[in-house]
Amino acid sequence: MIVVSDTAALEEHLSALRDRASRVAFVPTMGNLHEGHLALVHQARAAADVVVVSIFVNPMQFAAHEDLDTYPRTLDDDLSALRKAGVDLVLTPSTDDIYPDGSAQHTAIHVPELGDALCGKDRPGHFDGVCTVVYKLFQLVEPDIAVFGEKDLQQLLIIKKMVADLSLPIDIQSGPTQRAGDGLALSSRNQYLSASARALAPLLWQTLQSCGAALMATPAHQPASIIDPAKAELERAGFEVDYLELREISTLQRVDNMDQDCALFVAARLGETRLIDNIQLAARR
Ligand code: PAF
Repeated sequence: MIVVSDTAALEEHLSALRDRASRVAFVPTMGNLHEGHLALVHQARAAADVVVVSIFVNPMQFAAHEDLDTYPRTLDDDLSALRKAGVDLVLTPSTDDIYPDGSAQHTAIHVPELGDALCGKDRPGHFDGVCTVVYKLFQLVEPDIAVFGEKDLQQLLIIKKMVADLSLPIDIQSGPTQRAGDGLALSSRNQYLSASARALAPLLWQTLQSCGAALMATPAHQPASIIDPAKAELERAGFEVDYLELREISTLQRVDNMDQDCALFVAARLGETRLIDNIQLAARR
């Protein structure tokens, strides 16, 4: 496995790998890898001849008050997991390499509407930072395929829109959310949870499942009659809920029936830790 931190050297290594391969799959990450990331890497491995993973904690997607400085960095463990997973090349660029003049001065890519809803509303500029770095990484790696997790469903939809709008010749694939035994979606931020918060956290997924089942089962309804009490229940249990909302899956527009494919999205805080999750609900045909 080749590890490159210098983006100038990347091109040389990539062209050597490309000589003997037709398809390159890419998995961008911020490191601190868990089974969720590794499932995406295995998916990439099955889809292409060469697998490239990036590890870069992207300052442009963190607001000033967020956890950029404390975001867990575990490079040695990450590299050994990626070696075991059969990755060909890992890119670990420096911040200066990606943002030579600083991320605040950098041109941003904004995906309107999709990028302004839900987490985009609660974390202004977050998805501009994500899109900008992903675009830059795509320019460096030039993958045929890129794989993103459905846990960050809004991010996945935004990346797909950016790729379509900018006519990038990249096939965006997605992998299902990986969960702990009790249902909590795997996330690097789970390790911030105290023992009592960790015990409470699976209630998010239980709530999504029960609301999802109720939404699918009720022939004619107002989603609010199912979602509002569930939100209140989460609040009573100790969550600070940023949103629990039903949205149409491709536009993220609010919906009040199940005649189209939807997803129920949640973001909620336990103490300082913000957790997100979602459940996809197929249209009732
Ligand atoms: O999902 C993530 O880990 C990040 O948002 C990504 C896509 C690697 C961009 O920094």
